[in-house]
Amino acid sequence: MPDLAGKRIVLGLTGGIACYKSAELLRRLQDEGATVDVVMTEAATRFITEATFQALSGRPVWVDAWDARMANRMAHINLTRGVDAILVAPASTDFLARITHGLADDLLTTLCVARGAVPLIAAPAMNHEMWVHPATQRNARQLQADGVHLIGPAEGWQACGETGSGRMMEPDQILRALVAFFQPKHLAGRQVLITAGPTSETIDPVRVLTNRSSGRMGYALARACAEAGARVILVSGPVSLPCPDGVLRIEVDSARRMHAEVMRHAAAADLFLAVAAVADWGVANPSAQKMKKSADSAPPQLQFVQNPDILAAVAALPDGPWCLGFAAETEHLHEHAQAKRLRKGIEVIVGNLAQDAMGAQDTELVLFDAHGAHPLPRLEKLQAARLLVHEISRRLPATAARPDAPSAAT
Ligand code: C5P
Repeated sequence: MPDLAGKRIVLGLTGGIACYKSAELLRRLQDEGATVDVVMTEAATRFITEATFQALSGRPVWVDAWDARMANRMAHINLTRGVDAILVAPASTDFLARITHGLADDLLTTLCVARGAVPLIAAPAMNHEMWVHPATQRNARQLQADGVHLIGPAEGWQACGETGSGRMMEPDQILRALVAFFQPKHLAGRQVLITAGPTSETIDPVRVLTNRSSGRMGYALARACAEAGARVILVSGPVSLPCPDGVLRIEVDSARRMHAEVMRHAAAADLFLAVAAVADWGVANPSAQKMKKSADSAPPQLQFVQNPDILAAVAALPDGPWCLGFAAETEHLHEHAQAKRLRKGIEVIVGNLAQDAMGAQDTELVLFDAHGAHPLPRLEKLQAARLLVHEISRRLPATAARPDAPSAAT
């Protein structure tokens, strides 16, 4: 099911060159199943036409508070009732100032004031000097204190030719932030530590031993935990995936480095999710120089040493986090997963068949605990991760949040 299925969104546009990105944003909202009504300020219509948004949304576009197409002439009421969120992108300096003060001098600001409990989400977009102006900063702080959710702005090149903070976030980022906004906050205030991806063990400066893990499941869990309100540290082996929004990623290569980073952060975590496919053995005798082959020499002899078991080490910590492991098996899933759960000393292990899950977009997970097996439906990995987060949150002991742990800048 798309992430915004059944949601009704008002997309507000105010005056700014970033309006050109909002046409794409509208498409992305619709792709995720949202029904979107577009409301524009007069200034927004200078940058992009109403016709563009009418054609894309297939619905009337609203600019004028006195629009006679509304039988009761109350667009500001009719457009906000039954709506799931008002998303203003781009949100100009002037718009932020007006809603901070409750001004209602056009349709968009009037419906923001008339919205009642409907969430207001704004993606600021302006020249960097306008964003850092004390009045704008004061307004942004006040809006957040009033419960308005701000997305961005981003740093970078601006249409005026200057560089700084004030760019509107990209449509995909705004979409992900909106989707996250709607997720239940099952892990609010929790600190989560996750391992993901493969590890790689050095043979020589150009060769490594690794495995087929894509990192998708761990990254999906990191995203799902962040969406659920947790602060997330992701200790990742080498993968080619982008870091999920709001997640602090620490990149490592070998199992030993992963172990060192995990142990550094484990004490501050409420939850440890061991999703990485960690190499069981490292090369004991890596070569300092690239090994050379020759016609008459024998193939190199690699010797191995056992790597630390990261999950077992964290599970053994006194006062350590609540731990969850993964068991990717090729056969006898139930027996192997339960045995692993007991060996590692953890309450829950998530099992799946490696041949099904490794590198795939979807997965079929089974939760194993002291009561037996609890199969979850086959799902795309992000959906499976969200379901898992819900399952985890139901089993977590109630603990005080740890506010002093590091987190990613959002
Ligand atoms: O030990 P085994 O690989 O069978 O168990 C898999 C689970 O243990 C996964 O959760 C994996 O992330 C974790 N693990 C670990 N450190 C290791 C090996 C596995 O944390 N050295």
